[in-house]
Formats: sequence, C-alpha cells, structure tokens
Amino acid sequence: MLDKLERLPADPILGLAAAARADTHPSKVDLTVGIYMDEQGVCPVFEAVKKAQAVLAEEEITKAYMPPAGDADFNNGMQRLLFGAAHPALAGGRVSSVQAPGGCGALRIGAEIVNAANPGARVWVSDPTWPVHIPLLGSVGLEFKSYRYYDPETHGVNFDAMVEDLKNATADDVVLFHGCCHNPCGADLTLEQWGVIADMAEQQGFLPFVDIAYQGLGDGLDQDAAGLRLLAERVPEMIVAASCSKNMGLYRERTGATVFVAKNQDSAEALVSQALVAARRVYSMPPSHGALIAGRILSDESLDKLWRTELVEMCGRINGLRKAIREKLEVSTGRDFAFIEKEKGMFSFLGLSAEQAVRLREEYSVYLLNSSRINIAGVNDNNIDHFATSVAAVL
Ligand SMILES: Cc1ncc(COP(=O)(O)O)c(C=O)c1O
Repeated sequence: MLDKLERLPADPILGLAAAARADTHPSKVDLTVGIYMDEQGVCPVFEAVKKAQAVLAEEEITKAYMPPAGDADFNNGMQRLLFGAAHPALAGGRVSSVQAPGGCGALRIGAEIVNAANPGARVWVSDPTWPVHIPLLGSVGLEFKSYRYYDPETHGVNFDAMVEDLKNATADDVVLFHGCCHNPCGADLTLEQWGVIADMAEQQGFLPFVDIAYQGLGDGLDQDAAGLRLLAERVPEMIVAASCSKNMGLYRERTGATVFVAKNQDSAEALVSQALVAARRVYSMPPSHGALIAGRILSDESLDKLWRTELVEMCGRINGLRKAIREKLEVSTGRDFAFIEKEKGMFSFLGLSAEQAVRLREEYSVYLLNSSRINIAGVNDNNIDHFATSVAAVL
C-alpha cells in the first residue's frame, strides 16, 4: 500500500536553508528561514526562558497530560498580552482561548472552528501571504480568495485595492489578517487603516481572523497589537492565532494560542468546548513545556520584566539592521532602499527577480528566497558588506 507513495520535494524554504548550511563559502549569508538570529548568527534562548525553565524543572512532579485547554497562566497571560489587561472585551468576559501547538496549531484550530460554524467557508487572504496559510487552513476544507495587499512598485500596502477587494467579503466569509510584521512583505497597516477595516467588518459582517506571530518584533508589544485591539473593540466576533515562537524564542517548543472574541461569555465558552473537540481529532492534548515557560514568564513580575527587556533589545537590533541594510544597499547600488526602514519585523522583499535571487545564491553564496524575501535578522556586522556588494553585483 505505502510503496505507491512517491517522494515529495523538500519544503522550498527548508531546502534552501539546508543548501546554505552545506555551503562552505567563508562569507555565506543565510537569509532564508524566518527565525531570529543574533549578531553571532545564533537563534538565542532568552534569559527569561532559561530562568523559568530552571524553576519548572525543579518543581515538576508529573508528566501527566496537561488540561485539554492548556495551562491557565498561559491562556490568561496570552489574553492580556494580546489585548492589554484593560481591554473591554476581556472585562466583558467575551474572550476565551485554548493553548495550541505553535502558531500553526492555533491557525489550524481556528480554521476547524470556522469550518464547524460555516463548512467550506471562504477565507480572504492577502496577496501575498505566508504560503503555509493555504495548506493549514485549506486542509480543513476552507476555500480561498485573495485580496490585493502588497504593491511591489511602492514596496507598501496598496490599501485602496485592498479595500476595493474586501468590499466583496460577505457575512459568510472570513478575512485573514497579519496582526503585524507581515510575512513575507514587512508592510503593515496603519492604525487608521485598521479603523477602516473595522468599519468594513462591522458593516459587511465578515469574521476577522488575525494571525499574530511577531508581536513585539515590529514597534513593541503594545504597538504591534494595536490593530487587533482596535478590531476587538469594534467587531462582535473574531479569532486570533498567536505564537510565542518568535517573541519568546520558543520555536521548537510549539507554543501558541487560539483566542476567541465572542458575542458573549456563553458563546466564548462554547467556542472553547468546540476547540477541544477539534483538538481531540487532530493532536488530542497540548504540549506542556513551552506553554508552562511562557505562562510562568507572563505571570511572574520579574521574569516578565526581564523578557520584555530582552524583546525590546531584539526589536531594536532588527530595526537597527533595517537602517544599516538600507544605508549599505544605497551606497553599493546607488538606488533607493528607504522602504526597508519603513517596514516592520523580520522580512522584506528586496524587489529582485527570481533570476537575480538564484545568481545571488549560486555566485555569491547569499541565500534568499526566489521571491527575494530576506530575513533581516540573518544580516550581521560580518556579512553585511558581502551582502550589499553582492546585491549590487546582480543588479
Ligand atoms: C505569518 C506566520 N504565522 C504563523 C506562524 C507560525 O509559527 P509557529 O507555528 O512556528 O509558532 C509563522 C511562522 O513562521 C508565520 O510566519
């Protein structure tokens, strides 16, 4: 039976990362996978995580299953982190959540809930969007329609086109938004634009589904959540898929949450019961390690403070790199790269052709995706010059 199955090609991004690892060029630059890397090219463990982990290892007395909805400190902490402790939706008891295996698990549970409420619902996704959105949500049975988002000419959001497309979203539809630090383009909505989206959601009745995997890596924890907080004040219902992979560096611990803003407390509780049944069908129980760490950090004043300080440093380094990359590229190419400084988070499209991206990899050992998406955090003092002169060479 099983020998009928053919070998599938490797995931294109992971395949490029493997090629970068195998490359022996002394100045190779790996800008492929979306993980944060420090000046030494290492994806570091937060000090706050190390401390929380040490305490938990000391205290642990069982490996019995977690409660099906996950750790309470984690769920409550994530709700406060996303909405702010004083948000009216929280005060009204309209928010509920379940722990999920990473942002991907959170997206999947959100999709299961959408499909339970409206089988085969149409999900509007930005053009472009993170490619994993399609298989993750699509495998549940949801359909897709895309809305125009990124304009390669201006390197910004084509908001007029986005609004024009989303005018066609109905009360039976879901619209997927990137909460901040858009992957892959780095171009985010302004708060004013989020306000227009909230108006449309109110008038047209579509369900906003916000994927927030980079809170704290754009402008700061509160600033990065401002759009989703505004939506949650205005719309009766929404779903949020949150991840701690990037902002706590818990990538391999698979730590995320599906969060519901419901019409009332009853509905918020019903949604959790639905999510638990959906999870039971897919992976049964949530993993413990990452969520216990995150829950401990978010509920302990001194760990929380330490984590926030580390995150501010990380965010500062990314924004410093954006400035440095812009400056170096402008000097080496004589072209305008101001957009790199305006974008948020770890990603940017350099605006190169696939052919130029291939040349960068093959001739200069600078690894980026064919779409010319780069991970800003892969650049450091040691490789920035090689990166900038290589880009100039292929341009
Ligand atoms: C846009 C977006 N959403 C969600 C995720 C989910 O991340 P994870 O499942 O690793 O928490 C990612 C990770 O790269 C992402 O870029």
